[in-house]
Amino acid sequence: MTTADASHLIDADKGFIDHAVFIDAAIYQQELEQIFARCWLFLCHESSIPNPGDFFSTYMGEDPVLVTRDMNGKVGAFLNVCRHRGNRVCRADAGNASAFVCAYHGWTYGSDGKLIAVPSLKEAYYDELDTSKWGLVPVAQVDSYKGLVFGTFDPNAPSLSDYLGGAKWYLDNFFDRREGGVEVFGGMHKWVVPCNWKFPAENFAGDNYHVAWSHLSAIRTNFSTGSGVKNPNPKGPNVGLENGHCMLTFGPDDSADPPVGPILDYEESIRPEVEERLGPRRSLVNPIVGTIFPNFSFLRTTSRSMRVWQPRGPDKIEIWAWTYVDKAAPPEVREEIRKGGIYGFSPSGSFEQDDMDNWQECTQTAQGVMGRSLRLHMGMGLGHEGYSEELGGFESHFRNSESNHRNFYRHWARMMNGASWGELQGC
Ligand code: FES
Ligand SMILES: [Fe+2]
Repeated sequence: MTTADASHLIDADKGFIDHAVFIDAAIYQQELEQIFARCWLFLCHESSIPNPGDFFSTYMGEDPVLVTRDMNGKVGAFLNVCRHRGNRVCRADAGNASAFVCAYHGWTYGSDGKLIAVPSLKEAYYDELDTSKWGLVPVAQVDSYKGLVFGTFDPNAPSLSDYLGGAKWYLDNFFDRREGGVEVFGGMHKWVVPCNWKFPAENFAGDNYHVAWSHLSAIRTNFSTGSGVKNPNPKGPNVGLENGHCMLTFGPDDSADPPVGPILDYEESIRPEVEERLGPRRSLVNPIVGTIFPNFSFLRTTSRSMRVWQPRGPDKIEIWAWTYVDKAAPPEVREEIRKGGIYGFSPSGSFEQDDMDNWQECTQTAQGVMGRSLRLHMGMGLGHEGYSEELGGFESHFRNSESNHRNFYRHWARMMNGASWGELQGC
């Protein structure tokens, strides 16, 4: 593994970061090894694979991964690479299959990853191939939290529950507000953006600052106030959690919902149930956007979207985005949320277009020799933040702050330097 010292690339205590981290090919390779091959990564929502034999093709970093629900109902994940000559086994995005046949020479794998058929096994291999040893390589650990399926290639990584740690309560605010949780619906959007994966990850982690500026035209469409429906000046801190996870919040009485009647009525009607499920902390904050380190983000502002920033080289990502809804929501609310997902955050979404334009320019300006040598400013609110027992993380004293950026990149640097899970514990 590559462990070039990354400490000099950021100074989270003083609030600086080198522009080069968004373009340098060697740094990107080190990220794939030290971050994407070690962290728990979001694979899919359980509602994407509800039945035995269902599968979903995704990536962990740049590795293709096949998520399956086997014939016994058990969810697993495997490197989607044929053990014979390395072909990609499953080419479909999703579906239902009892077996996966490699297109090259026909090696066939079950939904549990086992190698179950090899053409000419008797004649060409003289029955000497031990098929029990040549199944698809399983992802080292697979687990789920409230319907969110994650995997890690690192057998030594902590449990998913420990990895998420204090972020679990914040996730509940998105995915477990009502009995039954949420489900994804309406397929998914996938599209390419020429930007580094960290720009969207840090944006969803902690960039309140850009909303009133970048999204002004979108806000003026009146589809979203962009700063809260009930109160144009919402409260709510950034909250930086362990393992680099970050959340943005509104004040407890501020709403992030679009001014759409059925959605507002629905939210009002479920509020007592939501508050009871979430407990007393909900009377302090209303979480609205977040990033689980490194590349899984979600929001409840305007749209209900969860997305993975799939890295595709230092200057390219694929955005994979789902719209989700409370399972218990009535059809008219579901329909408004579906439309909201398209209007706000999608390839053609008014807010998404603003963001993509900025992220790609922030990346492309690092192509130049002078541009990439810049130290960028990441010091907003430095010294005006502190640990909050009540929130279980570091809160900014004002909602516009880069405290979460610093939390994200402080963790990024530790992982890049190859810190062990033991060393990372409690950070
Ligand atoms: S590469 Fe898959 S069967 Fe040969
Ligand atoms: Fe934005």
